[in-house]
Amino acid sequence: MDVLHTIDVAGWNGPFSADAQAGACDALERGNVLFFPRLEFRLNEHERLLLTPDASDGKSKNVSLKASGELGGTSCTGEQASLMQHMMERFARDAARFLEALIPAYANRLARAPTSYRPVEIAGRTASAIHDDTRMHVDAFPSRPMRGKRILRLFSNIHPANAPRVWHVGEPFEEMARRFLPAAREGSRAQAWMMGALGVTKGTRSSYDWLMLGLHDGAKLDAEYQRRSPQIEIAFPAGSTWICFTDQVMHAALAGQYVLEQTFHLDVDAMVAPDRAPLRVLERLRGHALV
Ligand SMILES: [Fe+2]
Repeated sequence: MDVLHTIDVAGWNGPFSADAQAGACDALERGNVLFFPRLEFRLNEHERLLLTPDASDGKSKNVSLKASGELGGTSCTGEQASLMQHMMERFARDAARFLEALIPAYANRLARAPTSYRPVEIAGRTASAIHDDTRMHVDAFPSRPMRGKRILRLFSNIHPANAPRVWHVGEPFEEMARRFLPAAREGSRAQAWMMGALGVTKGTRSSYDWLMLGLHDGAKLDAEYQRRSPQIEIAFPAGSTWICFTDQVMHAALAGQYVLEQTFHLDVDAMVAPDRAPLRVLERLRGHALV
C-alpha cells in the first residue's frame, strides 16, 4: 500500500505549480495522506512554555479553539491562556492559507472548524474501545452530524525533542465499508429529530451520520479486525505536517505528543471528484440517498 503523497515544501505560503496542485488534490480525494516532511510550525520562545501536558485541563483530550475564538480544554488562565489562543490562532491561519495555496479548487469552500492542540502523550492513555483512537477508525462524532460534509484535517508535529507521531493507516474506505456496512443501522427520523431537539446532537443526524457511526464503532469493537486488517505504520517526524480526509482514511494514532490540528469542513460538491466522498460510496452500496 502506498498511502503517502510526499511534497517537499518548507514554507506555509506555497506557491505550487498547477501539476503539484492537481496531484495533491487527486491523492487527497483518493484517500491518501499528503505528507510534508519539512513543513514545520515553529513556536517562538514564549510559546514553548505551552509544551507541557499541564496545558490540558486533564478532563479533555485536547485544548480546543473554536473559530469564534473560544478556548476550551485548558488549565491555562490569564496571560498563558492568551498565549495559547494566539499560538493556535496563528496555526489556524497558516493552515488555511496553506490549504488554499495547495488546493485552489477548495478556496472559499473550506469552512474553518475547531483547532486542537494535543499536549498529552497518546501511548498508555486509557479509554473505552469506542473512544480509543489507537484503534483503526474513520472519524465520525456522535454529537456532530456532518450530513455528508467532508472532514479535512491538517496536523503538525511540534514535539520539541524529535519524537514522531505514529499512525497506522488501513485499507481503502470502500473495502472497510463493505465489511461493516451490513451491521450498521440507520436510526429513525423521529429519534434523530429528538436528539437534535434535546441538544444531544448539534443539528439533525442523517442516515449518513448513523452509518458513519456504525462504521466507526463496528471497526473499533472488532478486535480481530484491529489485529489482522491490512495496515501500515507511518512515523510523522517532529517538524513535519500531514493532511488527509479523516472521514475516509482508516487511521489509528498509536504514539506521540504535542500535535496541532486544524479541521475544515467541505461540501461534497466542492470536491473535484465527488464520487469518491464517503457519502457517495455509501449511497452506492446502500442503493438510496442518505441525506
Ligand atoms: Fe481519528
